[in-house]
Amino acid sequence: MAIRLAIVGPGRVGQALGRRWVEQGVDLLGFVGRRPETVAAAVRFCGAGASLTPMAAAQAHVLVFAVGDPDLAPAIGTMAGASPRSCSLWLHTSGRHDEHVFVAVRGHGIRTGALHPVAPFPDALSGWRALERMPAVLSGDAAARRLLERLAILLGMTPLWSTGGDRVLYHAACALAANGLTALRSLVDQVFAVAGGLPPAAAAEVAAALMHAALRACDQRGAAAALSGPVLRGDAATLRAHRTALEAHCPAADPAYRALMRQALELARSRGLGDAVAQAVAATLAGGAPPA
Ligand SMILES: NC(=O)c1ccc[n+]([C@@H]2O[C@H](COP(=O)([O-])OP(=O)(O)OC[C@H]3O[C@@H](n4cnc5c(N)ncnc54)[C@H](OP(=O)(O)O)[C@@H]3O)[C@@H](O)[C@H]2O)c1
Repeated sequence: MAIRLAIVGPGRVGQALGRRWVEQGVDLLGFVGRRPETVAAAVRFCGAGASLTPMAAAQAHVLVFAVGDPDLAPAIGTMAGASPRSCSLWLHTSGRHDEHVFVAVRGHGIRTGALHPVAPFPDALSGWRALERMPAVLSGDAAARRLLERLAILLGMTPLWSTGGDRVLYHAACALAANGLTALRSLVDQVFAVAGGLPPAAAAEVAAALMHAALRACDQRGAAAALSGPVLRGDAATLRAHRTALEAHCPAADPAYRALMRQALELARSRGLGDAVAQAVAATLAGGAPPA
């Protein structure tokens, strides 16, 4: 029998997951949203479903909360007041929250869990395209496990079970990995553009080649073994030259450069960089203008 599912939050994630589930034969009843035009866009994007009242959505077998993190607890509170169907599964897609956010439905006979789609959703279409083989980090009641896993597999994602831990720190790590890397790439592009000497397409090729190779090396050998470059060599003079040039031409890149190279210094120390050299490197990376 098809899973009858409703989604609270017709945004990027709600639309992307909804469309993939519909393609896989899930019976999408529709969306609960704050604005009719957003709900209508979500229904069009998924090719199924309708605008739902909280009361209608609360009768679904699976209720998915895909609202922004600050809106999650209030949205659950609203749905809890809408005569929810017992034995249903309520899940959210938030990276920041764990199951405690479902406290309002404890005692209603509802199973609860989280399905965090670990993929970027800059818009619904890109998110829908990015789902295949990406991890879905799951957590939830024992009675919810099989259904959560099935929902992840229907999305084409790889289910990974979380055993708890600090959810806010977990989310910070996800943000660093995804948004941090995106921000780093934009800085790299800016510095190449100001440096000149390479047409934009060639600069983009160099940036992509280096970043992909660094990530591959981290995957294969771990971050410390993957480190190369002036910090590993203890080359304070080159680091000073970089900082002087950045200060003069790309001052916005200097704080990120220093922060990242300080982390690289920790890796270099773990690889055996001597104390005296490490201290010289650290002095070069301290705040303020680069030492002469
Ligand atoms: N974006 C990502 O890359 C990503 C990745 C993994 C997980 N997530 C998680 O997925 C969740 C949704 O993220 P998103 O990027 O899809 O956010 P989004 O595009 O801002 O969509 C959230 C939607 O929820 C609606 N909404 C808010 N409160 C509501 C309520 N009480 N009832 C009904 N609808 C409500 C919003 O309405 P309005 O249109 O009126 O604002 C909006 O349409 C977040 O928890 C986020 O952490 C996001």
